[in-house]
Amino acid sequence: MRVLVFGASGMLGKDLLAAFPGDDVAGLSSRDADLRDGNDVLSAVRKAQPDWIVLSAAYTDVDGCEKDAARAIAVNRDGAAQVASAAAQTDAGLIFISSDYVFDGEKRTPYEIEDPRNPLNVYGRSKAEAESKLLEITPNCCIVRTSWLFGVGGKCFPDTMLKLARTQPELRVVDDQHGCPTYTPDLAIAIASLVRKHARGIVHVTNGGSCSWFEFACAILAAESPNTRVVPITTAEFPRPAKRPAYSVLSRRSLRDFGIELPDWQDALRRYLRQRKG
Ligand SMILES: NC(=O)c1ccc[n+]([C@@H]2O[C@H](COP(=O)([O-])OP(=O)(O)OC[C@H]3O[C@@H](n4cnc5c(N)ncnc54)[C@H](OP(=O)(O)O)[C@@H]3O)[C@@H](O)[C@H]2O)c1
Repeated sequence: MRVLVFGASGMLGKDLLAAFPGDDVAGLSSRDADLRDGNDVLSAVRKAQPDWIVLSAAYTDVDGCEKDAARAIAVNRDGAAQVASAAAQTDAGLIFISSDYVFDGEKRTPYEIEDPRNPLNVYGRSKAEAESKLLEITPNCCIVRTSWLFGVGGKCFPDTMLKLARTQPELRVVDDQHGCPTYTPDLAIAIASLVRKHARGIVHVTNGGSCSWFEFACAILAAESPNTRVVPITTAEFPRPAKRPAYSVLSRRSLRDFGIELPDWQDALRRYLRQRKG
């Protein structure tokens, strides 16, 4: 099988390249093909002749998207549509990585795949609009919604906490946003399984369990920096350009329907911390 990964230089992309042992996997960064250039995208796909495309590339800076909505929409929605058109023209299957931020966070039970999208910020809107477009462009498409990614291949919350703990005795962390931390090697393996199962439609893929950012920080620092004090604060005490959903836990029912289950986030965090130490 031939697989082409857009966003191969990113945190998830690096793990995707390793998740298809025995297959012919090629990866692209923005330098190889900019999603905003339809000709770039189509010629990259024609050259690679993939059976499957995994579209992990995106403008992922959530606050940056709020300040530069034109770029967010151009890359995350219109760029994704370019990849979907190329997939349709070359008969390739497409996996699109989407986000828990397509939801507004008003629920207090895990979001199911059929819950209505109602994003609170530009990044979430760019992903929500991409989802609808892609499902129209190609029937051979699987939307993988995931959340709160962490991994050794990029900037992520555990890494930020551990770096801050080196210089600050006390960290103030938001305790009124809840989600599912997800370890990128686990996500990459689940995506590879979905490809093998010819998945279509929408699937929620996260590690098991859920927590607040404060609870996540406590688990990270208890393991690595037990003398650092972690103080819970509210979102209102830590204003940011983009509004975040208060609750974006994704139900894993759709993943279980494919016979796939990922370990709990605490188990994933232990493996991340080991991997980080090398
Ligand atoms: N991080 C999270 O917490 C989270 C949560 C939910 C969903 N997601 C989604 O999961 C996917 C992977 O996230 P990540 O954190 O691994 O991303 P990341 O580390 O920020 O990597 C982004 C990738 O996209 C590429 N890219 C950016 N702009 C591009 C453009 N205009 N044309 C082509 N490629 C471009 C980058 O290439 P360069 O290196 O060349 O810039 C890089 O390979 C994304 O779709 C993201 O939206 C992430």
